[in-house]
Amino acid sequence: MKMKKAAGVAADILMYAIMLVQMLYAFTGNTLHELLGIAFFVCLAVHIFIKRGWLKSLLKAGRQSGGRRFFQAVTVLLFVCILALMVSSMGVSRMIFPWFPYCGSADLHRLLATAVLTLAVIHGGMYGYLRTQHKKRAALLIALAAAASAAFGTALVPYLNRHFKMVSIDYAAAVQGEKIEVEKKPLVVYFTRLGNTDFTPDADAVSGASLLLADGKRMGNTQLLADMAADAISCDVQAITLTGERYPSGYGDTVSAAGRELRENARPEIEPVSVSDYDEIILIYPIWWGTVPMPVASFLEQNDWQGKQLRLIATQGSSGFVSSTGDIRKLADGAEVTELVSIYCDDIPAARQQITDCLKQIYNGGQT
Ligand SMILES: Cc1cc2nc3c(=O)[nH]c(=O)nc-3n(C[C@H](O)[C@H](O)[C@H](O)COP(=O)(O)O)c2cc1C
Repeated sequence: MKMKKAAGVAADILMYAIMLVQMLYAFTGNTLHELLGIAFFVCLAVHIFIKRGWLKSLLKAGRQSGGRRFFQAVTVLLFVCILALMVSSMGVSRMIFPWFPYCGSADLHRLLATAVLTLAVIHGGMYGYLRTQHKKRAALLIALAAAASAAFGTALVPYLNRHFKMVSIDYAAAVQGEKIEVEKKPLVVYFTRLGNTDFTPDADAVSGASLLLADGKRMGNTQLLADMAADAISCDVQAITLTGERYPSGYGDTVSAAGRELRENARPEIEPVSVSDYDEIILIYPIWWGTVPMPVASFLEQNDWQGKQLRLIATQGSSGFVSSTGDIRKLADGAEVTELVSIYCDDIPAARQQITDCLKQIYNGGQT
């Protein structure tokens, strides 16, 4: 009996610890994330097995106190979210379940993981709530812990990812993939922090945050996406490069500088990038303050867009295209502007297939 109880407590502690570590996916990397994912579901099976009698009594119909009914609802919702998380874990898996074709959205996976962590905190807290005399204090603690868990998943994790990580990749493996035949080549234009920032050669992971280390060389996220697109359709690629003052090497300082530029509606000076020889331009840019970086605005305003197709690929730390598409429409007067895909920064090293898929939609009508 004692052994059973100890195993139950160990499985519970392990599950909470695994959930927290799993949220820090960007730091642990894919292999550990997938292995810990399996460990989580094993602990869950142990938890359900050990608590099966208690769970059965909890889920029994009949007259229940308000607290027990709430616990019931949370437990059922938690179970449903865990099942959905299990399916989405297989969907996003690259190592253990690469063949599983459903629910491959990383955004959905992150959302479900946050929901599971938050509900698990309430579920665990309710276990104590039903046993304590101090109901009000317990309810307050549970509400605070649940709010902290939700904030951890939705705000703190994206913040940490953006500010404190530098990811090493194998460049060739990330960039090379399926080729698409394109009759009239577009031009790929991208803007990235790298090359437009005063990095010292030994910039650490903090100042280099949101950058990649491709075969030991620093690389911007959008730069990698541009190389993927160029590999898929064999087209020209041009970078937007500042000619004047560059951004500071600290991530936070760059964020402040970019915010100032946005408020002042600045147009930083850039090397000319002409689109006159192309009917179609694929513009790849990071979201800065919910829109395009101001050097991208300079590029857009310096060109004549009449009759041109402008396709957009954005990268971001949480926020889709935000207002960048509307702003680009205003800046590139005359262009037909379409959104292709907005890719979360963590997903960029593995985004080659996503890039292929959206380019196929344009150039092959989705046919392979
Ligand atoms: C100045 C600045 C502002 C940013 N603002 C946002 C933002 O508003 N929303 C968001 O989701 N990500 C934001 N990010 C994160 C970047 O979009 C993301 O890290 C992107 O992948 C960086 O691409 P890069 O390495 O090619 O520059 C910002 C990054 C910087 C440097």
